[in-house]
Amino acid sequence: MCGIVGYVGTQQASTRPLEVVLEGLRRLEYRGYDSAGVALVAPDGGGLSTAKKAGKLANLVGELQAHPLPVASAAIGHTRWATHGAPNDVNAHPHVAGPIALIHNGIVENFAVLKAELLADGVQFRSETDTEVAAHLLARAYAETGDLSAAMCGVARRLEGTFTLLAVHADLPDVVVGARHDSPLVVGLGEGENFLGSDVAAFIAHTRDALELGQDQVVTLSPDGVEVTDFFGVPAQGRRYRVDWDAAAAEKGGFASFMDKEIHDQPQAVGDTLLGRTDLAGNLVLDDLRIDESVLRSIDKIVVIACGTAAYAGHVAKYAIEHWCRIPVEVELAHEFRYRDPVVGPRTLVVAISQSGETMDTLMAVRHAREQGAKVLAICNTHGSTIPRESDAVLYTHAGPEIAVASTKAFLSQITAAYLLGLYLAQLRGNKFPDEIAETFDQLRAMPERIQTVLDRADAVRKAARELADVPSVLFLGRHVGFPVALEGALKLKELAYIHAEGFAAGELKHGPIALIDEGQPVFVVVPSPRGRDSLHSKVISNIQEIRARGARTLVIAEDGDDAVEAYADDVFYVPQCPTLLSPLLATVPLQVFACELATARGLDVDQPRNLAKSVTVE
Ligand code: F6R
Repeated sequence: MCGIVGYVGTQQASTRPLEVVLEGLRRLEYRGYDSAGVALVAPDGGGLSTAKKAGKLANLVGELQAHPLPVASAAIGHTRWATHGAPNDVNAHPHVAGPIALIHNGIVENFAVLKAELLADGVQFRSETDTEVAAHLLARAYAETGDLSAAMCGVARRLEGTFTLLAVHADLPDVVVGARHDSPLVVGLGEGENFLGSDVAAFIAHTRDALELGQDQVVTLSPDGVEVTDFFGVPAQGRRYRVDWDAAAAEKGGFASFMDKEIHDQPQAVGDTLLGRTDLAGNLVLDDLRIDESVLRSIDKIVVIACGTAAYAGHVAKYAIEHWCRIPVEVELAHEFRYRDPVVGPRTLVVAISQSGETMDTLMAVRHAREQGAKVLAICNTHGSTIPRESDAVLYTHAGPEIAVASTKAFLSQITAAYLLGLYLAQLRGNKFPDEIAETFDQLRAMPERIQTVLDRADAVRKAARELADVPSVLFLGRHVGFPVALEGALKLKELAYIHAEGFAAGELKHGPIALIDEGQPVFVVVPSPRGRDSLHSKVISNIQEIRARGARTLVIAEDGDDAVEAYADDVFYVPQCPTLLSPLLATVPLQVFACELATARGLDVDQPRNLAKSVTVE
């Protein structure tokens, strides 16, 4: 939550610092869009200037056009997801204390104590934010030390909670200082200029060379250098790497929204996640796994921890891994996990699924699991992010940057990675014959083409979405792996269209939810393959009849050739045939398209739904 950008470059006053920071904020706006602000430092005694505005970045840009700031050599910028204090102009970042301007991502948990101390010292506060204490502390520490990096170290040692801080000083036109504790910060390395960002998207238009910072580090950026220390000023090293995607991947590419684009990226995202996973003999190899094979052979339980959409990917993983490996799999919301004394130990494999790798609830659960002696494997889409770094092993998805706040291609890639893990464990533990694994892997490899077929047929879904644009509620039913698909379909619709949507296990219908069915109530039903487990298909067909008899409008997702559904469906959206366990990769897609189209028909911003932020970096 909150996007942070920093730039230091040209020794001369120029428009570039502001341009770079605004461009970075545009790319980070998915992280929060309650307000935006910038601070610039000009050389030759030009000093500090700031601008900030409530609402989306466009408001700040308008403000800067109306009241331009002086040209500068260093800049920081912030896009906010409000925690402490309403999303208004005053609470927007940067916060200024004397010659210092500071921006923050995270929550300062001990801000009340620190604020009382500063008030007692006669400091006057302008905003209601927790962040402002950090700005005043930094100004005070700088006045004592005359060294911005040392002052930042001192402040970082006093703050509790989570934070990334960036600061500039009116008299230091070629320095930006940052600190990170449990919130993301990455350095971009340029020629005679350097960058900072909450993620690499902030500077991808300028450089693909990045430096990963560790926890509890302070970074001092100048045009020609990057110095990293711990919070005590002891020099430390970041890890250099090259970002494996470019600026074009973070653009809409002709689609009306990032979400629409990312839905269409899915064949490639799934295909890329499968690339390079077999050796010459056709065995699965997961190179990133750093957990000893003997440990993986000895595990007796898997616990998946994740939040939101990523947790639904975990539910799909449960069906597949239990079936292929005969290992019990529990799926737990990360924020519930560590507060209920979970029974995990050295023979538990905890699988943390996270697109961003920065979700605080998941990170805290990872730490808790490791403290209990469990091995943790992260399934993650973001290189260099905190969760994989703090895990014992990582399986990267290769979905590319996901910019729309609602997750789509990351979800399918997470499911794909979970399949890979399941097949790999089955191979390692001998639960399946090599030819059975090869056959399933071949089926997986055929999935991108099948997803493309679903996309090619999506006009019918869009039409239904437009017809239903004004309904107050949509229900989703599914069974077996169709159940998490139903949950994900409902979540997408809630997030994007702000209407009531709920997913149920179809078998649960008569235990209560059927009371919701009324004349015209739209209900999506994800029908299992008639070629799958014997009676499931016919039971779900009965469910469709039951709700239809009570007036529901039934929108059915069924596989090609399943004529049995037609008699009871108002709309049928056919998807290609595939093995049952892999079917969520297809059945989810019409539901994503439906939510995107329905929200668009309601005139809503599908990329930046209200109240949400892409990475939930506070608990
Ligand atoms: C929903 C959505 C969220 C995320 C959840 C976890 O569309 O995007 O539910 O799935 O916040 O985020 P990550 O995967 O980054 O840990």
